[in-house]
Amino acid sequence: MNDTKNVTEFVRLLVKSISKKTFQQARLYNKRNKAYAISQLRARPVKIKEGYKISVISRTDTQDFTKNYTEEEFIEHVKEQLTEHFFIAEFLTNQYKYFLTIYPNGKSKLRHKVSDQKTSLSLEHNAIKNRFIKAENNEYLRLLNITGANYTVKNKSQDKFKQINKYVEIIHDILKKKNLEDGAKIVDMGSGKGYLTFALYDYFQTYRKQTPLITGIEMRPELVNQCNEIAQKCGYDMLRFKCKMIQEVEDDAIDMLIALHACDTATDDAIFKGIKANAKIILCAPCCHKQVRKRMNPTNIMAKISEHGILKERQAEILTDTIRAMILEAHGYKTRVFEFISTSHTPKNVLIVGLQEESRKEPDLNKMKEIQTLKDMWGISFHYLERLVQNN
Ligand SMILES: C[S@@+](CC[C@H](N)C(=O)[O-])C[C@H]1O[C@@H](n2cnc3c(N)ncnc32)[C@H](O)[C@@H]1O
Repeated sequence: MNDTKNVTEFVRLLVKSISKKTFQQARLYNKRNKAYAISQLRARPVKIKEGYKISVISRTDTQDFTKNYTEEEFIEHVKEQLTEHFFIAEFLTNQYKYFLTIYPNGKSKLRHKVSDQKTSLSLEHNAIKNRFIKAENNEYLRLLNITGANYTVKNKSQDKFKQINKYVEIIHDILKKKNLEDGAKIVDMGSGKGYLTFALYDYFQTYRKQTPLITGIEMRPELVNQCNEIAQKCGYDMLRFKCKMIQEVEDDAIDMLIALHACDTATDDAIFKGIKANAKIILCAPCCHKQVRKRMNPTNIMAKISEHGILKERQAEILTDTIRAMILEAHGYKTRVFEFISTSHTPKNVLIVGLQEESRKEPDLNKMKEIQTLKDMWGISFHYLERLVQNN
């Protein structure tokens, strides 16, 4: 005997939670017929340009398909899928979790329990988190081994994927303050395996509908070849990788310079190239900071720091990046230094962002004097970036 009472009640509760905006997520699974290609549906609310929608991912063995529904369309979809394709459905509100099980004989059971997810998910946050780089059907992510054959992010790549999205999110915010024209030239120095370089190209093409020329500079030929092959396979005509030392780059047409975790003074070489090229945006995430640590020998009370290796190391990092920020300021860049991602994802999480406010041929001498004062205080014989700009 068919028992539709529980199904009707489940749908009523779902409608209510959606209309009250307490709906968090839903899942339909355990398919009725093995031949049905979709193994499960996952749904969550999203706030997009068109307003509040329910985003549904239909998962098959090889691929995920995403479609956004209005509330009414979503409810109709759930009803249809429940009666024709799945035995189990569950959904979560900010208070309860509801489970509906339909048995092959037509009977059903509806249960609920208090949800342990106390706080409601922020739609805005969800939207931002998932807005820019999507795993689904993104071939370069699969070729870079971030996703598997079915385009889902591999477990071991979850952190990398979060980092990529976070970087792109930051770049998105930067571009709100400093726009780049069509045809802009972006250089990623020390591009490594190209994760961010590809993601940036994807973001510009998919989200901004722009195709800047993006060049990755990398000294390891095997990485350069691999990235160029992937770019070609994806048809990314305006993305290319060059096997070069950062120091050897002679490009003076750079609108945005990026250097993420380029080792030690390679970050300075990259910043210097950006300043020289009059880049509008300079963005770098410094990596190891050996240069200043080796040149830091304070003779005053600051010498106490040398008694503790770890403290000297941290202080050297702070001074290295402070001086980098000051040099950018002296060259007309409004500069911000901040942590961009939780230390649980990477300990290398400081970002220096310089936005050009004025184009300067010569640095502001007062600001350069301040750097000297700081160096004297900490007994720093030289800072690599300062030397580069002074010898220019
Ligand atoms: C830690 S990896 C970071 C890669 C990439 N930017 C990322 O964040 O995923 C640093 C990369 O910079 C490259 N690199 C370091 N110094 C360089 C230099 N002076 N010129 C060119 N490439 C350099 C290294 O070979 C390496 O692939």
